[in-house]
Amino acid sequence: MRLSVIGCGYLGAVHAAAMASIGHEVVGIDIDPGKIKTLSDGDAPFFEPGLQQILTEGIASGRLSFSTEFAAAAGADVHFIGVGTPQQPGGHAADLTYVHTAVDSLLPHLSEGDVVAGKSTVPVGTAASLAPRVAATGATLVWNPEFLREGWAVADTITPDRLVAGVPDGPSGERAAEVLREVYHPAVASGIPFIVTDYATSELVKVAANAFLATKISFINAMAEIAEASGADVTQLADAIGHDERIGRRFLGAGIGFGGGCLPKDIRAFAARAEELGKSESVTFLREVDAINLRRRDRAVELVVQALGGSVFGKKVTVLGAAFKPHSDDVRDSPALDVAVRLRGLGADVMVTDPQAIDNARRLHPQLAYEPDRDTAIRDADAIALVTEWDEYRRELTPEHASSLTSGRVVVDGRNGLDAAAWRAAGWQYHGMGRP
Ligand code: UGA
Repeated sequence: MRLSVIGCGYLGAVHAAAMASIGHEVVGIDIDPGKIKTLSDGDAPFFEPGLQQILTEGIASGRLSFSTEFAAAAGADVHFIGVGTPQQPGGHAADLTYVHTAVDSLLPHLSEGDVVAGKSTVPVGTAASLAPRVAATGATLVWNPEFLREGWAVADTITPDRLVAGVPDGPSGERAAEVLREVYHPAVASGIPFIVTDYATSELVKVAANAFLATKISFINAMAEIAEASGADVTQLADAIGHDERIGRRFLGAGIGFGGGCLPKDIRAFAARAEELGKSESVTFLREVDAINLRRRDRAVELVVQALGGSVFGKKVTVLGAAFKPHSDDVRDSPALDVAVRLRGLGADVMVTDPQAIDNARRLHPQLAYEPDRDTAIRDADAIALVTEWDEYRRELTPEHASSLTSGRVVVDGRNGLDAAAWRAAGWQYHGMGRP
């Protein structure tokens, strides 16, 4: 099939390349000429495992191209909208400017029978408000939310847990659902659930999923706070409750909490939308989820300060990690970088290292010192803080090796990823999150 993908950020670039990899002819469109040049040259604009390969293959096959012109979308059967919906400056609601601009720019190039598939995360009600404009061209709007995780984005796009299509009532909706089934044929044929529903439900599925995941993380982080006050160990607690299949161990990783370009802004936008709907009390708990999450960053900073005798002023603190999670170079709302910035604010001599995210981190926080080599970064540190659980730090850094690099013996494990007993046995003062 011929597809266009409007917006070539994280979602759009991966979607375009993944759709080409399953055999479609795809044009990715973005108004940013720099992004389009990078992609057209076959270079992945961000670190995402597997993306470089499908991008190179797609371009070489002739099935994948990129353009800054909306006219390039003409002739495609399906047009995906994958532009960003960031948090509004000065507010919690989502900024829908890019979605509206993308749809308006696409309208003149649509033909009778085309399908426009919104993938961006939007407040419930958005699709219904956009649908008449699309329908006036003879095309049909569907909402087809995306559930990809950074770091697993390629696999999540090609073989997702489920596919969801929010369609209008009547024959045009039924036909559009069939068209989407055809787009995702390999996944649908392999038995991946394909859920056809209305616009509002499809929009809510996405925000509800992210709200649930954020709640799960903040739940275990709340338990970490209680564990800290009572002498319990939250990691053992998570293992024990996680054995209950109804609860499950995944996303019960206590630590410095969630960040990134999705969970934080999505729960805020959800609360803002609920308020507009007169239902703010239904999601009041999301404020607590947000507050618990942010408190854990304070806690990590507090642990470093306490471990260094009440002040970090003039002390060298090596921060292991800048990305909001491993396997990503994304530093948007990164708890790791936030901890680094706060420590520097308290007068620490902060050195940040990360296998992938240093360039992005430096752009955002040029005031911090960066060192790509882990061992050089650790040399002569008074304290080490693990804040992004890359294997380079969590699995591969032994306490014996760290001891050979510095005489400092303080380690704060912001992700509960280290073997506490091994670090203590090697003479380190180990501090986890919610662990005695
Ligand atoms: C999240 C969702 O998981 C995806 O399903 C969704 O499609 C995506 O947002 C989106 O809306 O686009 P992502 O932001 O890539 O994906 O990251 P997650 O893997 O969900 O991690 C989010 C944050 O939670 C990270 O900072 C991570 O370190 C933290 N986290 C995760 C924890 O603190 N503890 C855990 O147990 C798990």
